[in-house]
Amino acid sequence: MFDAVRFIEEKRDGRAHGPEELQVFVESFHKGDIPDYQASSWLMAAFLRGLDKAELVAFTLALAKSGKVVEFPDGLDCVDKHSTGGVGDKTSLVLVPLVAACGVPVAKLSGRGLGFTGGTVDKLESIPGFNAHLSMKGFVDQVRRIGCAISGHSGDLAPAEKRFYELRDVTGTIPSIPLIASSILSKKLAGGSRSFVFDVKTGSGAFMKDLDGARALARQLVDLSKALGRKSLAVISGMEQPLGRWVGNAAEVREAIEVLRGSGPTDTTSLCVSLGGAMVFLAGRAACRGEGERACREALVSGKALEHFRLLLEAQGGSTACLESPEKELPLSTETTLVRSGMKGRLASFGTDRIGTALRYVGGGRQRKEDAIDPGVAVEILAKIGDEVSPGSPVLALYHRGGEAGETAARVLAESFTVAPQAAVPPLVHETVE
Ligand code: URA
Repeated sequence: MFDAVRFIEEKRDGRAHGPEELQVFVESFHKGDIPDYQASSWLMAAFLRGLDKAELVAFTLALAKSGKVVEFPDGLDCVDKHSTGGVGDKTSLVLVPLVAACGVPVAKLSGRGLGFTGGTVDKLESIPGFNAHLSMKGFVDQVRRIGCAISGHSGDLAPAEKRFYELRDVTGTIPSIPLIASSILSKKLAGGSRSFVFDVKTGSGAFMKDLDGARALARQLVDLSKALGRKSLAVISGMEQPLGRWVGNAAEVREAIEVLRGSGPTDTTSLCVSLGGAMVFLAGRAACRGEGERACREALVSGKALEHFRLLLEAQGGSTACLESPEKELPLSTETTLVRSGMKGRLASFGTDRIGTALRYVGGGRQRKEDAIDPGVAVEILAKIGDEVSPGSPVLALYHRGGEAGETAARVLAESFTVAPQAAVPPLVHETVE
């Protein structure tokens, strides 16, 4: 019989577990033989004491194998991308068709919004008819047929991870680099892809607020992928301000379509090209990242990436009319409130997480698990860091439904930026970890 008390005491005292006992621990917890209070106690011990490399590999594999694992046929080596979460981060919507248009199969598993960050599944669901929940067979068949698919995490994949995650969420054990890395990689392994590009965000709109924390997480993700026999690369990108011009579900789909048309904001386009280039390189379709980036730029200019987005919409039931008339198919709410600068100078910083929080207040994110999302609410970023502003210049526009929620959100937005005589423009990509 598995002795859960001894297991917790071992980690409490800083000893390393063997791979078999970690496997039995995960299985027993998953079956319900270990109660939440003992699993939580172990999580806190692991949070404080850490997990060494062998433990991390064994724990991640046990989580990944707790449910079904997607299997692609031989020769169909897919690539996946994972972002640690940001504000206005619509890169997945662009990258899936873009990288597929470069001849690399993409099997993208995505999540819903978490806290102040947005989620790809919520964004996709603002497209009329789009099915963001494919069966495992449907997922594999679609990648085989059109070279890409994008689906919400099914409850069948890494179910033990989901249960641990729920406990971590309420026991103060989320911000642990080994626990975050094993959580992310167990889901990626279960998703069946062979290589992963991690977009590790840092800054005021990310969970990792400082560069050192982002570096440590990026290194852990890359090292753990290697130990698990997968190729990977991590790009540390800046979340010191929202990405692009729009934050909000339908609005971000509209911006992604603009990028695919070659007329999107420079920062969103550049980050998509960097991440896409890394995905094409990792999949072996380019000799270096630069060559992968050139392939991505060509796919944007030639219209091939946009055509792949059309194929993706057709395959998953989404309205293709949104490509021709995005304003009609992806409407924004009509009530607008402008948030203006009170002084002259340059836009110096954003409290980017506050912008995500303001959007949540007006229904663009959830306050409770069961809340429905309002796809049409949005925040438009009218000035970026480094831009000159004067008293009365509009900085942000809130698209909302009126009422108290709109007023509260506007007050949060008014406190979400600073203006100063000088401003340093933060880099879009800080560094890459290979
Ligand atoms: N995202 C995940 O998938 N897991 C974590 O632990 C944190 C962020």
